[in-house]
Amino acid sequence: MWLYQRMARSQTNSKFRFMNYGFNDDDEIELSENDEADRLFIQLYHMNIRGIEIEGREVLEVGSGRGGGASWIAKTLKPESLVAIDYSSEAVRLCRAWYHDQENLRFLEGNAENLPTEGDSFDVVYNVESSHCYANMEKFLSQVFRVLRSGGDFCWTDLRETKAIHEVENLFSNVGFLIKSSSDVTENVLDALKLIEEGRRDIIRQSAPQSLRKSFETFGGVPGTPIYEAMKAGRVRYLRYHMVKP
Ligand SMILES: C[S@@+](CC[C@H](N)C(=O)[O-])C[C@H]1O[C@@H](n2cnc3c(N)ncnc32)[C@H](O)[C@@H]1O
Repeated sequence: MWLYQRMARSQTNSKFRFMNYGFNDDDEIELSENDEADRLFIQLYHMNIRGIEIEGREVLEVGSGRGGGASWIAKTLKPESLVAIDYSSEAVRLCRAWYHDQENLRFLEGNAENLPTEGDSFDVVYNVESSHCYANMEKFLSQVFRVLRSGGDFCWTDLRETKAIHEVENLFSNVGFLIKSSSDVTENVLDALKLIEEGRRDIIRQSAPQSLRKSFETFGGVPGTPIYEAMKAGRVRYLRYHMVKP
């Protein structure tokens, strides 16, 4: 957790709006010129909510980080409202300053394991590369189940050790979700990480203190670091699940 707070404090550059590994495939989405630099990160968000009706619905993102994904969804897919929650007060503060002109978008500080929102109040909840940080996945899932309306969609994407996939699937079902579809997108994420590698190393070299560079590279999934190599070897997989609250 400290790394996210530390990053929000030291990296106040408003061009740095995503903290995920990215997603690459042949099916390129249309983006504005401004968003082009963030294509791979936006594509991960797009992949996670593909096939889900967003327009006119009340939507919640848990673990919104520096808000790039929430901002893109709020302006492009036109939800009635999008509430974006993150544990890091510093990140929430930056988001409130950067995206204040988007009327259907609101940022809240909060814990995924104890969401500061009413029950039965969202049509869609989504979560991108954040849940691996949570101390108690079951608590998080119970909270998502609580705040979703009946018939609501939950879109989850994140990485997990291959041997723990069965366990996480059991949790989804035990909490009460119906699993509508699942996919393994590891290859697409590895592809994106290769494309991002050089830029990421450069940014870290330019902006992170020497003592933190290795941690930032590991955290950023740079090729050669443990998580990247574990994904390549099949020990860790990047997954996407679409679930529904019955
Ligand atoms: C790898 S970043 C991804 C951020 C964003 N989803 C993105 O794709 O750019 C993980 C985020 O999860 C947040 N996070 C970690 N633990 C959390 C918790 N218990 N509740 C809410 N957010 C949390 C971190 O502060 C961080 O912003």
